Amino acid sequence: MVRHFLDIHRLSAEDLRAILDDAHARKQARRGWPQGRPDADAPARDRVLAMVFEKNSTRTRFSFDAAIRQLGGSSIIANAGDMQLGRGEPVEDTARVLSRMVDAVMIRANSHEDVERFARVSTVPVINGLTDRSHPCQILADLLTIEEHLGPVAGRTLAWVGDGNNVCHSFMHAAPKFGFRLQVACPGEYHPDLRDLAIGGGHVHLTGDPREAVEGADVVVTDTWVSMGDKDYEARLEAFEGYTVDDDLMAAANPDAVFLHCLPAHRGEEVTDDVIDGPRSLVWDEAENRIHAQKAVLAWCFSD
Ligand code: CP
Ligand code: NVA
Repeated sequence: MVRHFLDIHRLSAEDLRAILDDAHARKQARRGWPQGRPDADAPARDRVLAMVFEKNSTRTRFSFDAAIRQLGGSSIIANAGDMQLGRGEPVEDTARVLSRMVDAVMIRANSHEDVERFARVSTVPVINGLTDRSHPCQILADLLTIEEHLGPVAGRTLAWVGDGNNVCHSFMHAAPKFGFRLQVACPGEYHPDLRDLAIGGGHVHLTGDPREAVEGADVVVTDTWVSMGDKDYEARLEAFEGYTVDDDLMAAANPDAVFLHCLPAHRGEEVTDDVIDGPRSLVWDEAENRIHAQKAVLAWCFSD
């Protein structure tokens, strides 16, 4: 079986825990090393990772590139618009061709279904680098960050305040797998997809009140109100009034609660400068942890 990393809920809790433990261990092992020096085990030695981007990216692009180098491999990066994909070559034909040329493919796509179609015919591992539906790699980096600062995430309470979007969905997928509670506050019309809510099951509590969501929370998370591909900017700004994570909202969470944001942030919209630049914010560790989390995902994909 090819080891695709398409969504958190598609992996067993044991595999997910092992990936997160590997991310912790790999980070610990290389404190202070130059970014280009490979890890001692170099589990991707001689492997080539293709990265295909239909949408913009800073963190995903750079962290995967650094990650594959640190695992001993190399990368080929392309924007989908520069490929024949951009002129209508079928996703499946692209997958068949890339499978003959590289050892794994990371895709950031507009449509989640396109990544599923790619994976159905790919004979090499496919990694979801964000779709309109989910962002599983981000959540592993976030859990790594939480555990570094608070210890095991199992039994903790996390609050999601804002759009019920792709990142929110992946947090919901992770809640039952890692055993944490997720309290989600969204305006009614921007609630999460009900299919993803169902995957979170009893671990997810949905409300329309940000203060209710952060009550008892050890971690407060938000994301942009307007994701890539969303067209209704003005309507969203109006709908999300009262959802800004500011010092008042953080004060309603647990006293030692930390703040996460996958970035890029829209300061003054979903979060204030005081919070994102304040002492409870872990956003820069979170961004760095994309490298360590991605390495653990790639090592898992290559260890079949
Ligand atoms: N958080 C995240 O995925 O960032 P990029 O869009 O910059 O990759
Ligand atoms: N929800 C955001 C995440 C960006 C990393 C988006 O999809 O644009």
